[in-house]
Amino acid sequence: MRAETFGAVKLFTCAALTVCVVASAGATDDAGRQVFLKDATPSCAICHTLAEAGATGKIGPSLDELKPDVQRVTQAVKAGIGAMPPYPQLSEEQVQGLARYVARASGTTK
Ligand code: HEC
Repeated sequence: MRAETFGAVKLFTCAALTVCVVASAGATDDAGRQVFLKDATPSCAICHTLAEAGATGKIGPSLDELKPDVQRVTQAVKAGIGAMPPYPQLSEEQVQGLARYVARASGTTK
């Protein structure tokens, strides 16, 4: 898939140039994707499936199917839910970017 390849290339570039998140045009989404895959510890991808991020975790519900909106992601990440831990170490900005990214990537908002 073209979009996925593009994302992988960008991610690779980001690994090489740490400043690229700021410089990139789609900064919000890229930052949110990075939080989803890397900055959040443990990584959301371990437990959740989200095709856009190439995540195939099976412990939590598939976000592609759940299609949570921004509010629902924010709530889960801040407070935790069931077996999912809360993420107090993420900044408000990171949580916002992450929530927007997940909502968009799962097809809730365009
Ligand atoms: C240790 C595994 C694990 C990790 C890591 C994890 N989750 Fe979850 N997540 C779960 C489980 C299990 C549930 C279902 C909880 C329930 O409904 O009892 C869940 C539920 C959710 C929900 C749905 C909440 C709702 O209202 O039903 C969202 C959205 C979500 N996770 C997003 C994320 C994001 C974003 C991250 C990364 C910051 C993340 N999760 C990391 C296991 C995990």
